[in-house]
Amino acid sequence: MERFYITTPIYYVNAVPHLGHAYTTTVADCMARFNRAMGRDAYFLTGTDEHGDKIVQAAEKSGLTPRAYVDEISGHFRALWPELSISNDDFIRTTEPRHVRVVQKLLQQIYDAGDIYFGEYGGHYCTGCERFLTEKELVDGLCPDHKTKPEYIAEKNYFFRMSKYQGWLLDHIKANPDFIRPERYRSEVVSMLEMGVLEDLCISRPKSRLTWGIELPFDTDYVCYVWFDALVNYLTAVDWPDGEKFGRYWPAVQHLVAKDILKPHAVFWPTMLKAAGIEPYKHLNVHGYWLVKETKMSKSLGNVVKPLDMSWKYGLDTFRYFLLREMRFGNDASFSEEALVARRNSDLANDLGNLFNRTLSMAGKYFGSRVPAPQDASGDEDLRGLAANAVGNFVRLFGECNFSQALESLWELVRGLNKYVDAQAPWALFKEGKTERLAEVMYGMLECMRKVAACLVPVMPQAAGQMLEQLGVMGTPGLTDEADAWGLLKPGNVLAQASTLFPRIELPAADDAAACPTSAKGEMGGKGKVAKEAEAAKPAAGPKAKADASAKAPAEAPGEIEFPDFQKLDLRVGHVTSVERHPDADRLLLVQVDLGEERPRQVVAGLAEFFTPEDLAGRQVVLVANLKPRKLRGHESQGMILAVRTEAGMELLTASGSVAPGSKVS
Ligand code: ME8
Ligand code: MG
Repeated sequence: MERFYITTPIYYVNAVPHLGHAYTTTVADCMARFNRAMGRDAYFLTGTDEHGDKIVQAAEKSGLTPRAYVDEISGHFRALWPELSISNDDFIRTTEPRHVRVVQKLLQQIYDAGDIYFGEYGGHYCTGCERFLTEKELVDGLCPDHKTKPEYIAEKNYFFRMSKYQGWLLDHIKANPDFIRPERYRSEVVSMLEMGVLEDLCISRPKSRLTWGIELPFDTDYVCYVWFDALVNYLTAVDWPDGEKFGRYWPAVQHLVAKDILKPHAVFWPTMLKAAGIEPYKHLNVHGYWLVKETKMSKSLGNVVKPLDMSWKYGLDTFRYFLLREMRFGNDASFSEEALVARRNSDLANDLGNLFNRTLSMAGKYFGSRVPAPQDASGDEDLRGLAANAVGNFVRLFGECNFSQALESLWELVRGLNKYVDAQAPWALFKEGKTERLAEVMYGMLECMRKVAACLVPVMPQAAGQMLEQLGVMGTPGLTDEADAWGLLKPGNVLAQASTLFPRIELPAADDAAACPTSAKGEMGGKGKVAKEAEAAKPAAGPKAKADASAKAPAEAPGEIEFPDFQKLDLRVGHVTSVERHPDADRLLLVQVDLGEERPRQVVAGLAEFFTPEDLAGRQVVLVANLKPRKLRGHESQGMILAVRTEAGMELLTASGSVAPGSKVS
């Protein structure tokens, strides 16, 4: 069986995790899940880097011993990952005894081979990078990443003969074009090796200056330099030198890092491995930075986005999808909540969610929510070709770490299906009684939805799992043959009647409305929004803008009511399963709302001016469920959908997350 071993950087425990760490770990998770789906034996490692100056300084600041401090912060990382559905097999800490043993063993081995020597050195040390920077790397005398002045340090230390391996490394990179990828980072390393002389690497710190590290096995007055300790974690976790896992997963190992730590991974690490007689890794996958307003997000700059906030606010699957789709792997990308909401609404709600819900509700109407059995099971050639192409490209691009392009490719199928359904018009086939053709078209749609869901399992494990469940698919499908597969969806499968996996979401009204997507905060949120819009529209209007804003406040407050009066209202969250136009009233829609009861409720709603039936289908709405039923233009209405009139039209009231149909609003 093919093997796959993926690692994230082990993160410094000098601050709690932020979006940058969440990105790398989420990508590694998607890669692990993807490779499992490809039938490979996959192993996924993450962890924390706990030695060195930087950690001692952070511990001092917080008034804790280094030991207590690293335990606490490492705990934050460990606790975060399950919240983000990270499926790591191991979590390594460099302060663990198993790691100390392996580092000492490796040091001794390289020392015995004659590649470590004692000498004197002076250089510019950046604590942020935890390494000496060369004159060339400094910008105006400062570290370009941390914008701080490195300290000049001269002392006697141990050195690793890295220079000896410069030629070998260059040859290896040239002979293996995808050793470092994407290309821009490979060429950066190649020119670094071609232009300059590689210096030997200082790998020790005298205990007089630092004690928080791993003692050198051949000199107890020194501890090991933090990078020479940290990189070795990738070996520790698989029980180098003679563990079963080492034999299994080495050298099928791929590292995933951002460009800040390109040099240690592209230069230090392969030469260390070479000196120890260990095969180099298979790929180093390097990504760019998440920026906030053009600046790198980093704990030292203090402009961080908290991953859990985003996941709670917008849903974990949406967050994961956004991370993979928005950043072109290798390039920088900007983070903003506006961009996240835009992706959710356009890609997930409009393109995918609507399509899936439409498909299910048609299958409900025409085939009693069962997968139809087409007479000709081979499918339309165009549709099959489109699917094979999109899925084939998805799998190839994903495997090459081009995640954004892979999802784009899959969305060619999603968008193609939206066009296909309009072109084939199943409703017309139904009306004309062309049942055979209708079964073929609907089967093709459903089979393609299954393929899309199967591809999305690594990226959105929960939502894709739900899609498969709603298609009546048991178990998690693999991706090995998915590009060419057709007809895996079983006729007769029971389908869900509707799906509301990705309702549209709105951005919070005002900045201070924190975790509250609708302006349920009342006055503050509401006013903030109106005032903001007025300002944006008429920047110079001043008092006029204010007048406009106040004009939108409710003209007269209704009289107070007692709590029992309020309790008389039965407000419930419902899912719109299908919508038709009222046959004789232009402004009315006949809306079927699932409240988790035996049958959906029919509501006659005056929404036709603002929503097409397509727009409404699949939405999550709030219903006054105990309004006395009445007939409107000949059709019974069993409730009322709550909505807000706005300047632009009408907005529906909804819950900020997906809620089971029939849930009571209180
Ligand atoms: O460097 N955008 O740890 P670290 C994207 N302990 N990714 C980001 C990011 C951003 N703005 N900020 C951080 C270390 N990251 C060492 C690693 S490995 C043997 C030792 C992610 O806590 C990205 O993966 O500074 C980056 O490489 C890593 O966090 C740096 O984490
Ligand atoms: Mg860093």
